[in-house]
Amino acid sequence: MTDQQVHKVALVTGAATGIGKACAEALAAKGFIIAANYRSREQEAHAMLAALPGNGHQLFKADVADPSQAQAMVTEIGDKLGRIDVLVNAAGQYTQQDIHSNDYVAWQQAWQHSMALNLQAPVNLAFLVGRFMQDAGAGRIINITSRGAFRGEPAAPAYGAAKSALNSATQSLALALGQHGICVYAVAPGWTETPAASPRIAAQGWEGVAAQSPLGRVGRPDEIGSIVAFLASDNAEYLTGAIIDANGASYLRN
Ligand SMILES: NC(=O)c1ccc[n+]([C@@H]2O[C@H](COP(=O)([O-])OP(=O)(O)OC[C@H]3O[C@@H](n4cnc5c(N)ncnc54)[C@H](OP(=O)(O)O)[C@@H]3O)[C@@H](O)[C@H]2O)c1
Repeated sequence: MTDQQVHKVALVTGAATGIGKACAEALAAKGFIIAANYRSREQEAHAMLAALPGNGHQLFKADVADPSQAQAMVTEIGDKLGRIDVLVNAAGQYTQQDIHSNDYVAWQQAWQHSMALNLQAPVNLAFLVGRFMQDAGAGRIINITSRGAFRGEPAAPAYGAAKSALNSATQSLALALGQHGICVYAVAPGWTETPAASPRIAAQGWEGVAAQSPLGRVGRPDEIGSIVAFLASDNAEYLTGAIIDANGASYLRN
């Protein structure tokens, strides 16, 4: 039976905009029912949902960095949709920090916020959703990390550290959950043209940023969505534990 016929459910966090939205679109096009999480972007969330192909998609409002809101959301999805087959942790935020000019309070706040959203939220959701997946004996967890996990983020050290830790958690969870048929992956994008990234690219200069890749461009959200849809398919099982670089060869790891 194909993914399309069984109408599996995919929870996508941060689905109102950018990479999360593109993941929701790509998975809906493959026949998944989308449980689309958003935090504050009411209008964008409703517009995204209305444009998704297929039926049965629903919005779930929650701040995923708040463990109790995350838990209530997963319970609500279970009650309304009955299953969660795929989790895409796309919600995240780059928080600028300057070790030279930040005061100590701002420094700590940036670490707390960045770790809560970019690391703890995805692993908490993996824990909560993992229970559904274990009962089903199958599941896919896909964490959106970042190129910055590998090359360093001098202007956002907490963001880089959180994404690096999420790569590591991806590997640990792939080892822990494989016996239950649950596969865990990370996708590490480089510059991708989204509402969050575009102003930062503009500030650095589009030409210079594009030149970081031999392709001479930045990534598109739909390219990340396509990779995520492949990882969510029945064909990607043996890739479990992989961290997929999606950065146009702008940074190559050994
Ligand atoms: N674009 C890039 O160049 C790039 C590169 C590497 C990695 N990434 C990663 O890709 C992911 C998506 O980024 P993006 O560029 O698509 O950014 P984006 O357009 O700002 O999308 C992020 C989404 O996450 C939501 N979100 C933020 N905090 C949340 C919370 N606490 N609970 C629920 N939702 C929350 C945001 O909604 P609200 O505004 O309502 O909070 C927003 O809709 C992030 O994890 C980011 O770190 C992006």
